[in-house]
Amino acid sequence: MGPPHAVAKFLVPDVIFGVGVLAEVGQAARRQGAVHVLVVSDREVGEAGWTSEVLRHLAEAGVSAQLWDGLTPNPKDHEVAAGCAAYTESGCDVLVAVGGGSCIDAAKAIAVLATQPGNGAARGAAARTPAGIAGYAGVGKVPGPLPPTVMVPTTGGSGSDVSQFCVVTDTTRRLKVTIGARALVPDISVTDPRTLTTVPHDITAYTAIDVLSHAIESYLSLAATFLTDAHALAAVRGACEHLLPALDHPGDLQPREGLARASLQAGLAFSNALLGATHAISHQLGGLTDLPHGLLNAILLPHVMEFNASVAAGRLADVAAAMGLRTGLMTQHEAADAAIQTVRAFAGKAGLPATLREIGIGCSHLDRAAHGALSDAYIVTNPRPVGEADARAICQAAW
Ligand SMILES: [Fe+2]
Repeated sequence: MGPPHAVAKFLVPDVIFGVGVLAEVGQAARRQGAVHVLVVSDREVGEAGWTSEVLRHLAEAGVSAQLWDGLTPNPKDHEVAAGCAAYTESGCDVLVAVGGGSCIDAAKAIAVLATQPGNGAARGAAARTPAGIAGYAGVGKVPGPLPPTVMVPTTGGSGSDVSQFCVVTDTTRRLKVTIGARALVPDISVTDPRTLTTVPHDITAYTAIDVLSHAIESYLSLAATFLTDAHALAAVRGACEHLLPALDHPGDLQPREGLARASLQAGLAFSNALLGATHAISHQLGGLTDLPHGLLNAILLPHVMEFNASVAAGRLADVAAAMGLRTGLMTQHEAADAAIQTVRAFAGKAGLPATLREIGIGCSHLDRAAHGALSDAYIVTNPRPVGEADARAICQAAW
């Protein structure tokens, strides 16, 4: 429990959650005043049929829409610039994202660029920061208001549909930048667990471990509050309960709904408590290699938990209890270790590799990742202070 007079703030969009609620997207967009919507999606989600279903619901609500799906996983700065051009040139007034964290983050980044004079280029020159979207990296550098956004997450992982953050790859410097601002909290989040039933096995594993990493990092965060703790522990419980059933029975709606709930609650937690060293380091490795975010987190998370255990054993023991482990007869440190081993076991059962080396990360990447992690927005809330040597040691242990 935090100090008695600690201040708690909690930002949250309108949340619509449930089987079949995709049909409410049209009215949600109308409530935001939509006349002509830019739908941000990607080809995989389109092939699964969810994008066309959203377009149909928008048309039924009398909202015209234009599809833009020119992005790849880990959205890039130049893709965001192209999406912004599509938004402004078509006279769009609302953004609707349909997809995983990449689509949602791209929609947020388009919203940022669309409202900035010169679409960020002038600011970049004036402030000696990177031109375009990367110039807004950090916390509190995006003045609102932004165009209204309706987010439809389809992977049950990123939590970006409720968060005040987006992550974009700066292709010039080859790193991921985190942009955080109150204005980035979406207006409406619409989660229909049916959409998760078409997520492939590997993406299900990556995104579920990402949910677990959001839940654990936000629970251990220095900015955690009683409002974020409840959601974080519920998300730990949900991710652990539903991850393996979702992998074993991909078409079964119940575990998919459980993962979608866990994703939502982990998003509510980390949007308000922020994250820690796992994400700070994985953003660097993701920018260097374009490897899947959840895969990098799955490998890094247990090592960061071990690093944090010396200052956060009690919180990690709470995590172990939320995982359903019998911690009653354990010391705090034993329970913390059990939580760490459980994360490793989940990743192993999901078929994920255990080392950075196995996924093609070179030794030469580790120094750059360790150095860059210290500039990431999420490093400051890691419960144990992280210096460059610490970050390097975590990378080396994970390699
Ligand atoms: Fe994440």
